[in-house]
Amino acid sequence: MMMAPPSRAIQRLGDLLAHHTGQTLSESRRWRIETSLRPLMRERGLVSLDGLVAAIERDPGGTLMTETIDAMLNHESSFYRDFAVFKAIEQTALPRLQAQARDKTLRIWCAGCSTGQEAYSLAMMLKRMKPAWDGWRVTIVATDVSELAIEKARRGRYPQMDMQRGLQINDLLRWFRPAGDDWQIADEIRDMISFQTDNILEPRKVSGVFDLILCRNMLFYFPEDMRRKACDTLARHARPGTYLVLGAGEMLAGGNSPFANCRELSCIYVADKPATLPTVIGRPAH
Ligand SMILES: C[S@@+](CC[C@H](N)C(=O)[O-])C[C@H]1O[C@@H](n2cnc3c(N)ncnc32)[C@H](O)[C@@H]1O
Repeated sequence: MMMAPPSRAIQRLGDLLAHHTGQTLSESRRWRIETSLRPLMRERGLVSLDGLVAAIERDPGGTLMTETIDAMLNHESSFYRDFAVFKAIEQTALPRLQAQARDKTLRIWCAGCSTGQEAYSLAMMLKRMKPAWDGWRVTIVATDVSELAIEKARRGRYPQMDMQRGLQINDLLRWFRPAGDDWQIADEIRDMISFQTDNILEPRKVSGVFDLILCRNMLFYFPEDMRRKACDTLARHARPGTYLVLGAGEMLAGGNSPFANCRELSCIYVADKPATLPTVIGRPAH
């Protein structure tokens, strides 16, 4: 059966999403868009998508636009999401990086970090491995295109429901304290991470090369050309020996990727040659 063409409002919302994030509203996502936007519309007293689009057009670049784009993004995340992958990072990737390091520095980038659980999981993991990292300069940069997600990540405060998804009891007791109905992460963990709003398709805040890059459950939402562009960004910030972690079922795009599949480690790739793209050289972000 032929799908009806999208309404003007859906078309405009899709354009907005694509312009700001590179993502497209596939047909399967279009029908869910009104459901995703309903709480925001209710809060703003708007009764239809046409009304929402008209209000955005009256104030282009305003908070309603930012909140609308945010509501169309999928921010699903959890602590230690795909636990086996975190185990592989802890038991294989990090020890190998440590063995191959020329100086005692470890640079990690979480691209598409959403509300912070992924980066905090890595920070808690490094603390757990601590004696091994004593004397090392460890940097974790975590970026997301969504300002609202980054604000939540920086705050490090999570509702009970998030604590019940993947977090181990030892980490909960060691690194969180109750804050009203929520849980607040310890400053010692929060201070290990630099959270920045940044678009993987036009990065401005990340610079230099990283030893470990996580880019999980984001490439999936890009059309082929944008996925290739995002993969070029990842390649630019890698060097031979850099580990890259993707989400389950995600694949790299583009023919020039320096990353090869680590056969024994699912979702994990390692750069086995220099990127053949012009490298963006800059001071390391921290
Ligand atoms: C489904 S979440 C994944 C979060 C985390 N990586 C995980 O696997 O749990 C995808 C995130 O990618 C972000 N994102 C989407 N497009 C982006 C872009 N162009 N640049 C940076 N982040 C983007 C979204 O805002 C969202 O927070």
